[in-house]
Amino acid sequence: MSYWEEKVKIGTLEVPRFMGGPLDGITDSPFRKLVRNYSKDELLYGEMRHVGCVANDKGGVKALEFEQFERPLNYQVSANKVEYIEKACEKILAAQVDCIDLNIGCPAKNVVKSGSGSSLMADLPRLKEILTTFRRLIPINFTVKIRAGYKSKNAIEVAQLIQDCGADGIAIHPRLQTQLFSGVPDYEYAALVKKSVEIPVLLSGGIVNFATAKRAYEITGVDGYLIGRGLWSKPWKLHELREHAAGRPFKITDEQILACALEHLDNMMEYYGELGLYAFRKHLAFYIKGKSAASELRGALVREQSLEKVKDGIRSFFEL
Ligand SMILES: Cc1cc2nc3c(=O)[nH]c(=O)nc-3n(C[C@H](O)[C@H](O)[C@H](O)COP(=O)(O)O)c2cc1C
Repeated sequence: MSYWEEKVKIGTLEVPRFMGGPLDGITDSPFRKLVRNYSKDELLYGEMRHVGCVANDKGGVKALEFEQFERPLNYQVSANKVEYIEKACEKILAAQVDCIDLNIGCPAKNVVKSGSGSSLMADLPRLKEILTTFRRLIPINFTVKIRAGYKSKNAIEVAQLIQDCGADGIAIHPRLQTQLFSGVPDYEYAALVKKSVEIPVLLSGGIVNFATAKRAYEITGVDGYLIGRGLWSKPWKLHELREHAAGRPFKITDEQILACALEHLDNMMEYYGELGLYAFRKHLAFYIKGKSAASELRGALVREQSLEKVKDGIRSFFEL
């Protein structure tokens, strides 16, 4: 069996090497349902929610509404102190997920200002307290998503701490907080992190097709790959990667993209009610990106309130 066909063991999970990474506002239940049309057993991350929001029913709990067929699911949280972790874990575990992920890689200003996200990578005593609390309270799989570091690289030290605290896996996005989501991800550094621990290491950053995955493997030797922006409005991407890794052809047709876009819109209306139409716009822009007349369609539909008119607009766009 080739490296690409082998599964990755993360605690009790055995999953394909390509996984759906976490994208706040994108990888919600409506989107994950679409991914499942193509990929049945891949691990899918959700969106980051602060433990306080989950514990106190402030937005974090909506993300706990999902269908069982979206599993295996990795529910992602952030935390800046141990308060709320226990209550949040109780709720997440009751919703029956397969893994809980702690995000200590988020670079957003408001997140690091409150002491969570990537700023935790610069405060190892507090990070240790948070990690040991999670590990004590999580009887299922537990993973941590990190960056190369906060203002300077220290992911090797952090990865070893995470392993010592009993986590089942690490995902690294090898950029510093200061780089946000741009600049070249440092695969050489990710390779050093991979070598420094025994638990599986997943790579996040820049994987958009099989050629980029293969290159990332050759440099880093990691165990798996989180597909982030490469999956946005391309719910077939994990399947495409698996097919290409096996040397099989896969090409998505315009008919399939149209069907995906319409199903996505229906899923969003069902999940969010009327707000779904508004929230769908960010996805539509990506489904039609790069095609001629895309900006005209976006302009025509930006204020459209009627679901049927939006659907008709999308259909006629793809039939051009
Ligand atoms: C719009 C957006 C939302 C994101 N939300 C999250 C999140 O909720 N949790 C997380 O760990 N990373 C989040 N990320 C980071 C991605 O998971 C990923 O690490 C990063 O985009 C690099 O991978 P990529 O090149 O495959 O996108 C987000 C990135 C973007 C662009």
